[in-house]
Amino acid sequence: MTPHRLRLGVNIDHVATIRNARGGDHPDPVRAAEIVAAVGGDGITAHLREDRRHIRDSDLARIQAATGLPLNLEMAATEEMLAIALAHKPHAACIVPEKREERTTEGGLDAAGQHNRLAPIVSRLADAGIRVSLFIAADERQLEAAIRLRAPAVEFHTGDYAHATGEQRAIELKRIADMAALAAKNGIEPHAGHGLTFDNVQPIAAIPQLAELNIGHYLVGEAVFTGLADAVRQMRELMDAAR
Ligand code: PXP
Repeated sequence: MTPHRLRLGVNIDHVATIRNARGGDHPDPVRAAEIVAAVGGDGITAHLREDRRHIRDSDLARIQAATGLPLNLEMAATEEMLAIALAHKPHAACIVPEKREERTTEGGLDAAGQHNRLAPIVSRLADAGIRVSLFIAADERQLEAAIRLRAPAVEFHTGDYAHATGEQRAIELKRIADMAALAAKNGIEPHAGHGLTFDNVQPIAAIPQLAELNIGHYLVGEAVFTGLADAVRQMRELMDAAR
C-alpha cells in the first residue's frame, strides 16, 4: 500500500503564550497561521483552554479569517466549549481532557469511562458538521469507546512515545502503529500528536494509516532559533540607520 500524504496540523498555542507573557498583541498567532499557510501547512490547531492561558476567544475568528486552512479546535468536553465550537464552526474539534493545574494535556481522554458525558457532545458537534476527533491513548479499550461514540477520527497521544527511550520507545511505537491499523480497519481516521520533534517524528510519520500529525511546542521553540538571527540583524540595521 502506498501511504497517502500525511497532513501536518501546526499548533500555534505557544505563539499566544509568548504574546500573553507581556499582555499585548505581539507576537500574534494569526501571523503564525499565515506563515503556516504560506509554507504549505495543512491545518491550524489551537487549544482554547478553560483558563485562556494561550489562545483567547477573540483569536479564533481571526485565525479562521486569516487563512483558508482548516481549523482544528482542541477543546474540553464542557458546555462552555461546545457553545464556542458551535458558534465558530471550526473544520474539526479534537476533544481533549483538561485539568487546570496541568502544564500541558497530560494523558488521553477516558472515552471508555465517560461515554455518557461525551456522547451528546460528540453528536452535537457532528450534527453541526464539525469533524470530531477524540484525543486518546493508543489503547484498545479507548479505541473501542471511540468506535461506540461514532467519532470519525481519533488522535493518539504520542507523549509516552516521545518521553520513552530505548526498548520502551519501541513498545510505545508499536502500540501506536497497532492502534492506527485497528482504527483504520474500523473506518476511523487515525491522527497522532504531542511531544513530536525533529528527532522522534519519523518513526511515527512512517505509520502508513496515520492521516494527520498535530505538532506545536517544538516547532514554536525551534522557530525561535531559526528566526532569531534575522530578527537581531534587522534590529541592528534599524539602530545603525538611526545614527
Ligand atoms: N494534539 C493535541 C490533542 C494536543 O493537546 C497538543 C498539545 O496542545 C498537541 C497535539 C501538540 O503537542 P505539542 O505541543 O507537544 O507538539
